[in-house]
Amino acid sequence: MKQDQPRPTPRAGIMDIEAYVPGKSTAPAGVTKVYKLSSNENPLGPSPKAIEAAREVAAKLDVYPDGTARRLREAIAEVHGLSPANIICSNGSDEILGLLAQTYLAPGDEAVFTEHAFMVYKIYIQAAGAKPVAVKETDERADVDAILAAVTPATRIVFLANPNNPTGTYLPFSEVRRLHAGLPRNVLLVLDAAYAEYVRRNDYEAGIELAGSAENVVMTRTFSKLGLGGARVGWMYGPAHIVDAINRVRGPFNVNATALEAGIASIRDRAHVERSVLHNEKWLAWLSEQMIGLGLRVTPSVGNFLLIHFPDDKKHSAAAADDYLSARGYILRRVTGYGFPNALRMSIGIEEANRGVVEALKTFLKS
Ligand SMILES: Cc1ncc(COP(=O)(O)O)c(C=O)c1O
Repeated sequence: MKQDQPRPTPRAGIMDIEAYVPGKSTAPAGVTKVYKLSSNENPLGPSPKAIEAAREVAAKLDVYPDGTARRLREAIAEVHGLSPANIICSNGSDEILGLLAQTYLAPGDEAVFTEHAFMVYKIYIQAAGAKPVAVKETDERADVDAILAAVTPATRIVFLANPNNPTGTYLPFSEVRRLHAGLPRNVLLVLDAAYAEYVRRNDYEAGIELAGSAENVVMTRTFSKLGLGGARVGWMYGPAHIVDAINRVRGPFNVNATALEAGIASIRDRAHVERSVLHNEKWLAWLSEQMIGLGLRVTPSVGNFLLIHFPDDKKHSAAAADDYLSARGYILRRVTGYGFPNALRMSIGIEEANRGVVEALKTFLKS
């Protein structure tokens, strides 16, 4: 090989992407008990039935999985009352978000999301060579008028995390409908409902009805927040023409055998889902109250996590709190990259972790 020839270079724009930084999972050396509260996982763990199903697959790992994920789609369809033909399963919902960007965006196109939205949208938009357009939120919540004002003839996708991560705020479905009504027909509205199971609000809908009736709406969901983060199982529900397009682009065996079987067992274990949701409802309310009691502002959350804002003084900043908590085994999420340099996101944990964080912060704030 001639050394004076140029080496392979990524497409224009790829090196402008800031790689996603996942939540920490380790504590400083010497900390023996670690509570990982940085990735919005289920503190109750996977469904015991999913564990058993994954064990059974282990003996058959030589066999390719069903590339159409038929049984998993049927299980999802049964639980949610959908047509399996309108579902695509994916390697976490991240994958489907990427496939949507790859399929519907080209260089010169634009895609819109809100300023504190889940960060992978921007990455996938850039990876497709399109222009990311971040719009202002109002009170840390998506603002339909601001989104509609940002739509131009070049817009192809609007990504809406509902509820959003890391804020935990949501749009009532009347607002989602108003957003949809204001979009041109050629703009795809992606309703990312990763935390839908946890929302206990009468005016919330994940988007099943809209994705089932409109030509330009899809809803994405995940198993990650209900105990299968490590298995990587996500899905999308939407119109047949979008399912058809995505099926041409996705990897032929994108959901592995363990994920398929764990997913099927998990979604059928409604008792585990119910337990997880009730645990979250109780401790989300408790933690919100306790944080406010400590004099900290929290963004009102309907997810399985809480965004906690810290005082302006350096001694009690989010960075200082993060160090203090990490040293005691409580691993929360820094959210500077999301535009919150002085906040931490805390996933709702088991009782011991929740009480432990509150006690630790009490001492920290007095120090
Ligand atoms: C809003 C939102 N969407 C999608 C995802 C992706 O989840 P997964 O790829 O694990 O399904 C997450 C995970 O943090 C999220 O917060």
